[in-house]
Amino acid sequence: MSNYILAIESSCDDTSASVIKNGKILSNIVATQKIHEQYGGVVPELASRDHQKNIIPVVSQALNLANIQKNQLKAVAYTRGPGLLGSLLVGSCFAKSFAQSLNIPTIEINHMRAHILAHFIDAPTPTFPFLCLTVSGGHTQVVRVDSPLSMTVIGETQDDAVGEAFDKTAKLIGIPYPGGPLLDKLAQEGNPEAYKFPNVEMSGYNFSFSGIKTAILYFLQNNSQKDPEFVSKNLNNICASVQATLIEILLKKLRKASRELKIKEIAIAGGVSANSWLRSQLLLEAPKHAWNVYVPKMEYCTDNAAMIAMAAHFEFENNNFGSILASPLPRWEINNI
Ligand code: KG4
Ligand code: ZN
Repeated sequence: MSNYILAIESSCDDTSASVIKNGKILSNIVATQKIHEQYGGVVPELASRDHQKNIIPVVSQALNLANIQKNQLKAVAYTRGPGLLGSLLVGSCFAKSFAQSLNIPTIEINHMRAHILAHFIDAPTPTFPFLCLTVSGGHTQVVRVDSPLSMTVIGETQDDAVGEAFDKTAKLIGIPYPGGPLLDKLAQEGNPEAYKFPNVEMSGYNFSFSGIKTAILYFLQNNSQKDPEFVSKNLNNICASVQATLIEILLKKLRKASRELKIKEIAIAGGVSANSWLRSQLLLEAPKHAWNVYVPKMEYCTDNAAMIAMAAHFEFENNNFGSILASPLPRWEINNI
């Protein structure tokens, strides 16, 4: 039986649609909104309007690339949360209307679970239970994953997400939005040990990034007062040192969780899992701890509908279908499902 599912992602500033057939991705179209660059961050109202513009062409392309007709679909999956309310509303309204017109069910997907389940798109896939460091613009979590439908957050940030720390530092040193990827690139030519930044140790597997953000701000202000060209002269070293500090905060908690829970299957997911230093450090450390490390393909790190489709495949297999009355959930913990 050919179980084709259409999946839609619209939680932030990427409009994306994907078709999956019996667990295999057939298409994944992503329209990244450029309009936010000039504002140095995502403007929610503009994001909603762009989703509205993009959603029909993006879905058409996903169906065309998968080489199927809409009446072959068995379900329409969409991101119900977490994310920006206006953005989520566009995807959920479209998905529900499309599903109703085709007389097929919807599937409600949690965006953060989907980031983790992106690991099942291609082999090699992690073995359960595994630990996933889920790092994006809005989240920083250590998750224990017992099955595709059973996940527990065992630690998370108490303030900013690590992606925010990347983006805010980038803004301070004049790198355009989204700062994370460009900071990563500039860091490749710098010395990660050039500067040190203090970090407050959090309990358990929790994180905090607000202190380090302030420390970076003062560091830049103090040095720029002494030499107004400090940032431009030392850009690569600043990027490399900030990046190494942020990534070490993440790795420290991951090591602790792996040691204490005795889990050696280690995965990373979310936008920041595209970071080259995080990826290389993890692979470098793996033999030391006898870890099996799983890093997602670049195209599945940042927001995409293929991961929503993969998560939908597991829900479909378990007959977990959505309600026409479901409203978006801007805050939706992955434990509460
Ligand atoms: O998962 P994602 O695409 O969207 C959210 O759900 O938030 O993550 C976006 C975040 C942004 O903060 C972006 O700067 C960061 O991921 N990011 C990176 C890199 N690529 C994306 N941060 C550091 N290094 C990268 N290479
Ligand atoms: Zn995301």
